Amino acid sequence: MTDRYAVIGNPVAHSKSPLIHAEFARQTGHDISYGGLLAPLDGFRAAVLGFRDAGGSGLNVTLPFKHEAWRLADRRSERSERARAANTLTFDADGIAGDNTDGVGLVRDIEGNLGFGLSGKRLLVLGAGGAAWGIGLPLLAQGVARLTIANRTVSRAEELRRHLGEFANIVGCGFEDLAGTQFDLVINATSAGLSDEAPAIPKAVFAPGALAYEMVYGRATPFMAFARACGARVADGLGMLVEQAAESFFIWRGVRPETAPVIAKLRSET
Ligand code: ATR
Repeated sequence: MTDRYAVIGNPVAHSKSPLIHAEFARQTGHDISYGGLLAPLDGFRAAVLGFRDAGGSGLNVTLPFKHEAWRLADRRSERSERARAANTLTFDADGIAGDNTDGVGLVRDIEGNLGFGLSGKRLLVLGAGGAAWGIGLPLLAQGVARLTIANRTVSRAEELRRHLGEFANIVGCGFEDLAGTQFDLVINATSAGLSDEAPAIPKAVFAPGALAYEMVYGRATPFMAFARACGARVADGLGMLVEQAAESFFIWRGVRPETAPVIAKLRSET
Protein backbone atom coordinates (compact mmCIF):
# COMPACT_ATOMS: atom_id res chain seq x y z
CA MET A 1 0.00 0.00 0.00
CA THR A 2 1.22 3.49 -0.83
CA ASP A 3 2.17 5.45 2.30
CA ARG A 4 0.71 8.95 2.32
CA TYR A 5 2.46 12.16 3.33
CA ALA A 6 1.80 15.86 2.77
CA VAL A 7 2.95 19.35 3.63
CA ILE A 8 0.40 21.29 5.66
CA GLY A 9 0.37 25.09 5.77
CA ASN A 10 -1.51 28.25 4.89
CA PRO A 11 -0.79 29.13 2.15
CA VAL A 12 0.63 25.91 0.75
CA ALA A 13 0.08 25.98 -3.00
CA HIS A 14 3.53 27.55 -3.61
CA SER A 15 5.35 24.81 -1.68
CA LYS A 16 8.09 22.90 -3.49
CA SER A 17 7.97 20.05 -0.95
CA PRO A 18 5.70 17.78 -3.07
CA LEU A 19 8.18 18.08 -5.97
CA ILE A 20 11.14 17.38 -3.71
CA HIS A 21 9.62 14.32 -2.07
CA ALA A 22 8.48 12.96 -5.42
CA GLU A 23 12.13 13.15 -6.54
CA PHE A 24 13.30 11.44 -3.34
CA ALA A 25 10.72 8.66 -3.81
CA ARG A 26 11.79 8.12 -7.42
CA GLN A 27 15.45 8.07 -6.48
CA THR A 28 15.03 5.57 -3.61
CA GLY A 29 12.27 3.47 -5.18
CA HIS A 30 9.90 4.12 -2.28
CA ASP A 31 6.20 3.89 -2.95
CA ILE A 32 4.80 7.07 -1.36
CA SER A 33 2.41 9.83 -2.24
CA TYR A 34 3.07 13.40 -1.08
CA GLY A 35 0.63 16.26 -1.53
CA GLY A 36 -0.19 19.72 -0.23
CA LEU A 37 -2.77 20.22 2.52
CA LEU A 38 -4.25 23.68 3.08
CA ALA A 39 -5.44 24.07 6.67
CA PRO A 40 -7.69 26.91 7.81
CA LEU A 41 -5.81 29.28 10.15
CA ASP A 42 -8.03 28.17 13.03
CA GLY A 43 -8.27 24.54 11.93
CA PHE A 44 -4.76 23.10 12.09
CA ARG A 45 -5.44 20.40 14.68
CA ALA A 46 -8.55 19.11 12.94
CA ALA A 47 -6.75 19.00 9.59
CA VAL A 48 -3.83 17.03 11.05
CA LEU A 49 -6.05 14.53 12.83
CA GLY A 50 -8.27 14.19 9.75
CA PHE A 51 -5.23 13.38 7.58
CA ARG A 52 -3.98 10.84 10.11
CA ASP A 53 -7.36 9.21 10.58
CA ALA A 54 -7.70 8.83 6.83
CA GLY A 55 -4.53 6.71 6.89
CA GLY A 56 -1.78 9.33 6.50
CA SER A 57 1.71 8.40 7.73
CA GLY A 58 3.28 11.80 8.32
CA LEU A 59 3.20 15.54 7.64
CA ASN A 60 5.65 18.32 7.01
CA VAL A 61 4.48 21.54 8.60
CA THR A 62 5.11 24.99 7.19
CA LEU A 63 4.06 28.53 8.08
CA PRO A 64 2.26 29.51 10.18
CA PHE A 65 1.76 26.23 12.03
CA LYS A 66 5.19 25.07 13.21
CA HIS A 67 4.68 26.18 16.80
CA GLU A 68 1.19 24.71 16.91
CA ALA A 69 2.56 21.44 15.53
CA TRP A 70 5.08 21.37 18.38
CA ARG A 71 2.25 21.82 20.86
CA LEU A 72 0.12 19.14 19.21
CA ALA A 73 2.84 16.44 19.25
CA ASP A 74 2.60 13.76 21.94
CA ARG A 75 6.39 13.27 21.92
CA ARG A 76 9.09 15.63 20.67
CA SER A 77 12.72 15.34 19.70
CA GLU A 78 15.19 17.50 21.58
CA ARG A 79 15.81 19.66 18.53
CA SER A 80 12.07 20.28 18.22
CA GLU A 81 11.86 21.06 21.93
CA ARG A 82 14.69 23.61 21.65
CA ALA A 83 13.10 25.28 18.62
CA ARG A 84 9.63 25.20 20.18
CA ALA A 85 8.52 24.25 16.69
CA ALA A 86 7.96 21.08 14.69
CA ASN A 87 8.19 20.80 10.90
CA THR A 88 7.89 17.00 10.78
CA LEU A 89 5.08 14.94 12.31
CA THR A 90 5.00 11.16 12.27
CA PHE A 91 1.92 9.12 13.14
CA ASP A 92 2.36 5.77 14.86
CA ALA A 93 0.71 3.54 17.42
CA ASP A 94 1.99 5.76 20.26
CA GLY A 95 0.50 8.96 18.84
CA ILE A 96 2.12 11.92 17.10
CA ALA A 97 5.89 12.37 17.13
CA GLY A 98 7.20 15.90 16.47
CA ASP A 99 10.66 16.69 15.11
CA ASN A 100 12.37 19.69 13.58
CA THR A 101 14.72 19.28 10.63
CA ASP A 102 15.12 22.97 9.74
CA GLY A 103 18.29 23.54 11.77
CA VAL A 104 20.11 20.49 10.52
CA GLY A 105 18.96 21.34 6.99
CA LEU A 106 20.53 24.79 7.25
CA VAL A 107 23.77 23.45 8.71
CA ARG A 108 24.09 20.79 5.98
CA ASP A 109 23.48 23.36 3.28
CA ILE A 110 26.04 25.80 4.67
CA GLU A 111 28.73 23.26 5.52
CA GLY A 112 28.08 20.50 2.99
CA ASN A 113 26.71 22.22 -0.11
CA LEU A 114 28.33 25.64 0.25
CA GLY A 115 31.55 24.33 1.80
CA PHE A 116 31.54 26.95 4.54
CA GLY A 117 32.82 25.54 7.86
CA LEU A 118 31.03 27.05 10.85
CA SER A 119 33.57 26.20 13.52
CA GLY A 120 35.27 29.30 14.90
CA LYS A 121 33.22 31.70 12.76
CA ARG A 122 31.57 34.96 13.87
CA LEU A 123 27.89 34.53 13.14
CA LEU A 124 25.11 37.11 12.89
CA VAL A 125 21.46 36.01 12.78
CA LEU A 126 18.99 38.70 11.74
CA GLY A 127 15.52 38.19 13.19
CA ALA A 128 14.12 36.61 16.33
CA GLY A 129 10.88 35.01 15.10
CA GLY A 130 10.08 31.36 14.47
CA ALA A 131 12.72 30.97 11.77
CA ALA A 132 15.50 32.22 14.05
CA TRP A 133 14.36 30.03 16.95
CA GLY A 134 14.58 27.00 14.70
CA ILE A 135 18.24 27.47 13.78
CA GLY A 136 19.89 28.88 16.91
CA LEU A 137 20.97 25.74 18.65
CA PRO A 138 22.03 23.66 15.63
CA LEU A 139 24.30 26.53 14.57
CA LEU A 140 25.81 26.84 18.04
CA ALA A 141 26.42 23.11 18.10
CA GLN A 142 28.86 23.55 15.20
CA GLY A 143 31.21 25.50 17.45
CA VAL A 144 30.78 29.05 16.16
CA ALA A 145 33.05 31.53 17.93
CA ARG A 146 30.29 34.03 18.57
CA LEU A 147 26.59 34.28 17.86
CA THR A 148 24.90 37.66 17.67
CA ILE A 149 21.13 37.83 17.29
CA ALA A 150 19.93 41.20 16.02
CA ASN A 151 16.27 42.07 15.68
CA ARG A 152 14.18 45.14 14.89
CA THR A 153 12.38 44.57 18.21
CA VAL A 154 15.31 44.23 20.60
CA SER A 155 13.31 42.53 23.37
CA ARG A 156 12.65 39.54 21.10
CA ALA A 157 16.39 39.20 20.37
CA GLU A 158 16.98 39.27 24.12
CA GLU A 159 14.35 36.58 24.67
CA LEU A 160 15.98 34.25 22.15
CA ARG A 161 19.39 34.96 23.66
CA ARG A 162 18.07 33.97 27.08
CA HIS A 163 16.54 30.80 25.63
CA LEU A 164 19.93 29.78 24.23
CA GLY A 165 21.51 31.18 27.38
CA GLU A 166 23.45 28.20 28.62
CA PHE A 167 25.98 29.15 25.95
CA ALA A 168 28.04 32.14 27.02
CA ASN A 169 29.03 33.49 23.62
CA ILE A 170 25.72 35.00 22.57
CA VAL A 171 24.65 38.61 22.17
CA GLY A 172 21.11 39.90 21.57
CA CYS A 173 20.78 43.44 20.17
CA GLY A 174 19.14 45.83 17.71
CA PHE A 175 20.34 46.53 14.16
CA GLU A 176 21.95 49.87 15.05
CA ASP A 177 24.07 48.16 17.73
CA LEU A 178 25.87 46.26 14.95
CA ALA A 179 27.93 49.31 13.95
CA GLY A 180 31.64 48.57 14.19
CA THR A 181 31.27 44.75 14.35
CA GLN A 182 32.13 42.32 11.55
CA PHE A 183 30.86 38.81 10.85
CA ASP A 184 31.92 35.86 8.69
CA LEU A 185 28.36 34.67 8.18
CA VAL A 186 25.16 36.73 8.19
CA ILE A 187 21.89 34.78 8.07
CA ASN A 188 18.67 36.61 7.27
CA ALA A 189 15.99 34.88 9.35
CA THR A 190 13.59 37.82 9.15
CA SER A 191 10.54 37.78 6.94
CA ALA A 192 11.47 41.23 5.56
CA GLY A 193 12.19 39.79 2.10
CA LEU A 194 8.60 38.67 1.72
CA SER A 195 7.56 42.33 1.68
CA ASP A 196 10.56 43.32 -0.47
CA GLU A 197 12.41 44.98 2.37
CA ALA A 198 15.85 44.41 3.87
CA PRO A 199 16.73 44.58 7.57
CA ALA A 200 18.40 47.95 8.21
CA ILE A 201 21.91 46.75 9.00
CA PRO A 202 25.20 48.63 8.51
CA LYS A 203 27.18 47.85 5.33
CA ALA A 204 30.29 47.07 7.30
CA VAL A 205 28.90 43.95 9.06
CA PHE A 206 30.27 41.73 6.28
CA ALA A 207 33.87 40.71 6.95
CA PRO A 208 36.06 40.11 3.89
CA GLY A 209 35.01 36.77 2.34
CA ALA A 210 31.75 36.70 4.34
CA LEU A 211 28.80 34.54 3.37
CA ALA A 212 25.32 36.10 3.38
CA TYR A 213 22.56 33.49 3.68
CA GLU A 214 18.92 34.33 2.92
CA MET A 215 16.54 31.73 4.39
CA VAL A 216 13.85 32.66 1.89
CA TYR A 217 14.04 30.89 -1.48
CA GLY A 218 12.58 31.43 -4.92
CA ARG A 219 13.06 35.18 -5.07
CA ALA A 220 15.97 37.63 -5.09
CA THR A 221 15.43 39.63 -1.91
CA PRO A 222 16.69 43.13 -1.07
CA PHE A 223 18.93 41.52 1.61
CA MET A 224 20.64 39.45 -1.08
CA ALA A 225 21.15 42.50 -3.29
CA PHE A 226 22.46 44.52 -0.33
CA ALA A 227 24.88 41.79 0.70
CA ARG A 228 26.16 41.37 -2.85
CA ALA A 229 26.74 45.12 -3.12
CA CYS A 230 28.74 44.87 0.12
CA GLY A 231 31.02 42.26 -1.49
CA ALA A 232 29.62 39.19 0.30
CA ARG A 233 29.11 35.77 -1.23
CA VAL A 234 25.33 35.24 -1.35
CA ALA A 235 23.15 32.10 -1.00
CA ASP A 236 19.39 31.67 -0.82
CA GLY A 237 17.44 29.07 1.17
CA LEU A 238 16.76 26.54 -1.60
CA GLY A 239 19.50 24.19 -0.42
CA MET A 240 18.19 24.34 3.14
CA LEU A 241 14.70 23.51 1.87
CA VAL A 242 15.92 20.37 0.14
CA GLU A 243 18.16 19.36 3.06
CA GLN A 244 15.40 19.68 5.66
CA ALA A 245 13.16 17.63 3.37
CA ALA A 246 15.83 14.93 3.08
CA GLU A 247 16.07 14.69 6.86
CA SER A 248 12.27 14.35 7.10
CA PHE A 249 12.39 11.62 4.43
CA PHE A 250 15.05 9.86 6.50
CA ILE A 251 12.87 10.05 9.64
CA TRP A 252 9.93 8.52 7.78
CA ARG A 253 11.62 6.09 5.42
CA GLY A 254 14.98 5.26 7.05
CA VAL A 255 17.00 6.17 3.94
CA ARG A 256 18.85 9.35 3.10
CA PRO A 257 18.16 10.54 -0.44
CA GLU A 258 20.79 12.39 -2.44
CA THR A 259 20.13 16.10 -2.32
CA ALA A 260 22.53 17.52 -4.92
CA PRO A 261 20.59 16.37 -8.02
CA VAL A 262 17.34 17.65 -6.54
CA ILE A 263 18.81 21.06 -5.73
CA ALA A 264 20.24 21.24 -9.26
CA LYS A 265 16.89 20.30 -10.79
CA LEU A 266 15.00 22.94 -8.79
CA ARG A 267 17.59 25.60 -9.68
CA SER A 268 17.28 24.78 -13.36
CA GLU A 269 13.52 25.23 -13.15
CA THR A 270 13.56 28.69 -11.54
P1 ATR B 1 8.91 33.78 11.27
O1 ATR B 1 8.30 32.60 11.91
O2 ATR B 1 8.92 33.74 9.76
O3 ATR B 1 10.27 34.12 11.81
P2 ATR B 1 7.71 35.89 12.83
O4 ATR B 1 7.74 35.11 14.09
O5 ATR B 1 6.55 36.77 12.53
O6 ATR B 1 7.88 34.97 11.56
O7 ATR B 1 9.04 36.77 12.79
C1 ATR B 1 9.34 37.59 11.72
C2 ATR B 1 10.75 38.18 11.95
O8 ATR B 1 11.09 39.05 10.87
C3 ATR B 1 10.86 39.02 13.20
O9 ATR B 1 12.17 38.93 13.70
C4 ATR B 1 10.55 40.43 12.65
O10 ATR B 1 11.04 41.48 13.45
P3 ATR B 1 10.17 42.03 14.72
O11 ATR B 1 10.34 41.01 15.80
O12 ATR B 1 10.77 43.32 15.05
O13 ATR B 1 8.75 42.13 14.21
C5 ATR B 1 11.32 40.36 11.37
N1 ATR B 1 10.90 41.32 10.34
C6 ATR B 1 9.77 41.31 9.60
N2 ATR B 1 9.75 42.34 8.73
C7 ATR B 1 10.91 43.04 8.92
C8 ATR B 1 11.48 44.20 8.32
N3 ATR B 1 10.86 44.87 7.34
N4 ATR B 1 12.69 44.62 8.78
C9 ATR B 1 13.32 43.94 9.76
N5 ATR B 1 12.83 42.84 10.37
C10 ATR B 1 11.64 42.39 9.95
